[in-house]
Amino acid sequence: MSKRFPPLSHKCPRILHGGDYNPDQWRHTPEIWDEDMRLMKLAGCNAMSVGIFAWSALEPSEGRFEFDWLDQIMDKLADNGIYVVLGTPSGSKPAWMSHAYPEVCRVNPDGTRQPHRVRHNHCRTSPVYREKCQMINRKLAERYGDHPALLLWHVSNEYNGGDCHCEHCYQAFREWLKKRYNYDLEKLNYAYWSSFWSHTFPDWDYIEPIDSTMHGLMLDWARFKTEQTIDFFNAEIAPLKEVAPDIPVTTNFMTACSTLDYWAFAKAVDIVSWDSYPAWHETDDDSAEAARTALVHDMNRSMKGGKPFMLMESVPSIPTRDCIKKRKKPGMHYLSSLQAIAHGSDTVQYFQWRKSRGCKEKFHGAVVDHAGTEHTRVFREVSELGQALAELDEVAGTTVSPEVALIQDYQNDWGLDFGARVFLGENVKYREECLAHYRPFWEAGVPVDIIDQTCALDQYQLVIAPMSYMLRPGFAERIRNYVYQGGTVVLTYWSGVVDETDLCLLGGTPGGGLREVFGVWEEESQNYFPEESVLIGAKDNNSLGMEGTYNAVDICSVIHAEGAEVLAEYEEDYFAGSPALTKNDYGSGKAYYMACRNQADFLREFYNRLMVDRSIQSVLKAELPEGVTAQKRTDGDTAYIFVMNFNETEKNIELDAAYTDILTGKTTASTATLGGYGVMVLKDRAQS
Ligand code: GAL
Repeated sequence: MSKRFPPLSHKCPRILHGGDYNPDQWRHTPEIWDEDMRLMKLAGCNAMSVGIFAWSALEPSEGRFEFDWLDQIMDKLADNGIYVVLGTPSGSKPAWMSHAYPEVCRVNPDGTRQPHRVRHNHCRTSPVYREKCQMINRKLAERYGDHPALLLWHVSNEYNGGDCHCEHCYQAFREWLKKRYNYDLEKLNYAYWSSFWSHTFPDWDYIEPIDSTMHGLMLDWARFKTEQTIDFFNAEIAPLKEVAPDIPVTTNFMTACSTLDYWAFAKAVDIVSWDSYPAWHETDDDSAEAARTALVHDMNRSMKGGKPFMLMESVPSIPTRDCIKKRKKPGMHYLSSLQAIAHGSDTVQYFQWRKSRGCKEKFHGAVVDHAGTEHTRVFREVSELGQALAELDEVAGTTVSPEVALIQDYQNDWGLDFGARVFLGENVKYREECLAHYRPFWEAGVPVDIIDQTCALDQYQLVIAPMSYMLRPGFAERIRNYVYQGGTVVLTYWSGVVDETDLCLLGGTPGGGLREVFGVWEEESQNYFPEESVLIGAKDNNSLGMEGTYNAVDICSVIHAEGAEVLAEYEEDYFAGSPALTKNDYGSGKAYYMACRNQADFLREFYNRLMVDRSIQSVLKAELPEGVTAQKRTDGDTAYIFVMNFNETEKNIELDAAYTDILTGKTTASTATLGGYGVMVLKDRAQS
């Protein structure tokens, strides 16, 4: 049965190509606007994000609105067949507002208010700021809601979880806590274990989120900031939805932002979008960065159940970050852009279309450089990509349907950071650990969903939950049921340690009933310095067929098998002979427990065996050389297999059949040669 998601916008059912376009910076040189139109068409662009930081151009002083320039740009773009992802400008407030209404600026923990400067630093609770945002958003919706060029709203820009310690935020936080703890202060004090160091709160009004030693409090503050940001976002979109209900809304998420729980935020947007800035070429091996980026693409797809997302920003050449960065080598722009499509994006958008003349981002990579011509390497590569994307329009709306899920949970991340760091120090490395467990699948060409602890598990053959330190409500139960009913789960050391306010679970780790599911008890754990390692070895005749010896690093936990089979054991240190990897049969499923942090060789051996055990197959029946991966998008009838070479040198791939590469229109030979940073998109009938 064909399963296709509707296009991002019915107005343009294609793969979108374009980027952040700031015509407000060029209002005094209209000839540049005309040149932009010519160049956009030449580069194969069909959608531009306009006006993201244009508040002072739209409302130069309070209540005085100037839309003429935007009217002209919207019309020009429409006349040239280019659509608009229209920004709402709250990411950067105008100076007049900070001066007239200081409450729109954030307050530091010491109570001092921040001056007007940079961007992304408004108070998310300020009633004035909300009112001003709603006013300008309403005007934008009324003026452009029916404009033929308008595709989507790009609401604000890169919301973050930065702190604001103003009275408005504190009052809202206390109200939020009251609801969460049912107006029972004792309940809150117990949840925070506040009798420690005599930190008991005798009054709601004494609660201030400034004590990093109170892990439960800081976790709630982090949750509050996410919810308050969503609340702010909902206030921002209210007039857009009221005036132009058919125009979808999105806001651009970030790679590195760990301060907002995007899983909660994703529910509030119509389309997920994100900004991707990998650090290519910083080592000799780009495949690590490719896998890291792939994981984030997969998460952005998973957040809306496989619905295509938008690559909202990427750089066509080199970002500026106040440090040494490398330009994309020839071919990498094409490859990294198609990588996004391979994992479920229906767009390739850039920051930025044209380089600004001044300020922070004047040297940041752009499609159009200060020379202002199409005769640059970057422009040629962008145009070449534009042509390729046009060939891929039929991929829009298809999805990726993985059998494997990896749980990387924001709130667990916070828990580890606030709560476990006191013991593990710099060995926490939660996201690195998730990536290490993801990598063997990326290498094997096996798609993975990246989910969080709140997600359903039933659709997967295999669920991996590294370092599930915090058990959020319902998670342990979901794992138990999933395994009982036949699922396979991998859990690691430092799982099931605390509840959601960082109170340690009593009765042995992993808690929450997981000790029984996994058939192990984790008694204690040892930390190691970077130069240290601990030898572990597979046990003879273990039921998974694991072989060899390996060096575990950073963290080794001492566990006891309580009914689980021991697959590998430690061969060194005071706990030599105790289990390093176990498997427990529970109900009709299997529960694996990994007691230590393992390196790539171990993880590859383990997961390759597990994939065979679970009959999980690569999307391409071919041996993939190192640094080459394959990913598949499908609508159930047709499959599009993206084969991507992240090596600078060419690689040969033995294919099981002849395919059509839709980028070239040619039929592949049985040995396909992928050039350095090369990509093929093979069209096939879907297998199932
Ligand atoms: C993004 C931001 C853009 C631009 C870009 C530069 O994080 O949304 O406005 O600053 O970085 O890389």
